[in-house]
Amino acid sequence: MYNKVITLTEFILKEERRFKKATGSFTLLLTQIENAAKIIASHIKKTGLVDIIGQTGKKNVYQEEVQKLDEFSDRLLIDMVSESGQAHAVASEEVEKPIYIKKNSGKYSVFFDPLDGSSNISVNITMGTIFSIYHKAADLKQPGDKQVAAGYIIYGTSVMFVYSAGAGVNGFTLDPSIGAFILSHPNIQIPAKGRIYTINEGYWNLYDQSLKNYLSSIKKEEKPYKTRYAACMVADVHRILFQGGIFMYPSDSKHPQGKLRLMYEVNPMAFLIREAGGLATSNGNDPLKIKPLSLDQRVPIALGSKEEIEKYLKYNS
Ligand code: AHG
Ligand code: MN
Ligand code: MN
Repeated sequence: MYNKVITLTEFILKEERRFKKATGSFTLLLTQIENAAKIIASHIKKTGLVDIIGQTGKKNVYQEEVQKLDEFSDRLLIDMVSESGQAHAVASEEVEKPIYIKKNSGKYSVFFDPLDGSSNISVNITMGTIFSIYHKAADLKQPGDKQVAAGYIIYGTSVMFVYSAGAGVNGFTLDPSIGAFILSHPNIQIPAKGRIYTINEGYWNLYDQSLKNYLSSIKKEEKPYKTRYAACMVADVHRILFQGGIFMYPSDSKHPQGKLRLMYEVNPMAFLIREAGGLATSNGNDPLKIKPLSLDQRVPIALGSKEEIEKYLKYNS
């Protein structure tokens, strides 16, 4: 029997055709990100076999340890996006300064967290890639509301590509036998509530009282919540997107701005969650409306199911 499958490329092309002025540029750009993701996925699978794991001994611009697979993913994504000819600038969490691509005047700027959750490399646990795309502008520091598209790739038990170009969120699963991402989760909607909370509660003593009050309150509810924490934003947000609940990386007394980067991690995820019918908040403010002060700015974040964020905001705004 013939079953019609929709590939990611076909889907992106159809999405782009909705715009009268479409030139195929957006499709080319996303296809290069898709190709890079497939290569990263194949390398991740081999980490136990080849000498690509382990630390390089270097630290990234944020003084965090860089691991080899981080560097590999970073270089690959920068190269492939540059070669697509569709971007005028690429900025990556791992690189101090954005790269302006002079040889062409592509229409888009692209932001990456090339490997999210990279501390999971050595223990064979899920990682991801996050991307965020804007129209070319003189200043790269645009608010998240201006994103043209955003998404992530999750390297889990299977590889998924989840993205939105502002008309809903769709998920594609890599079929390794044909090497293509196939539409598997059309029009993803986040449940309006969910009993999962995800936060690094090991930092409890550093949290402010209002956050402690909120966390204590959900623990006292008749029907208990479940804690889940993968130490990989992509994995943790992916779970919340499908099962509902709340993801938090708040400020604490040692990190007043939290840990996650507005442009590389928070805005793409907040965009997706909003497109899926959920909410995101940075201490009561819409993160997508923040005008970034720098490309590497960090902000506290809570995002997830609408009702869970509303509950959280009763304590934290
Ligand atoms: P990255 O690997 O890109 O540096 O990101 C790791 C981030 C994020 O994915 C995760 O939510 C968070 O760090 C975990 O931090 P803690 O170890 O402080 O909980
Ligand atoms: Mn990250
Ligand atoms: Mn990273």
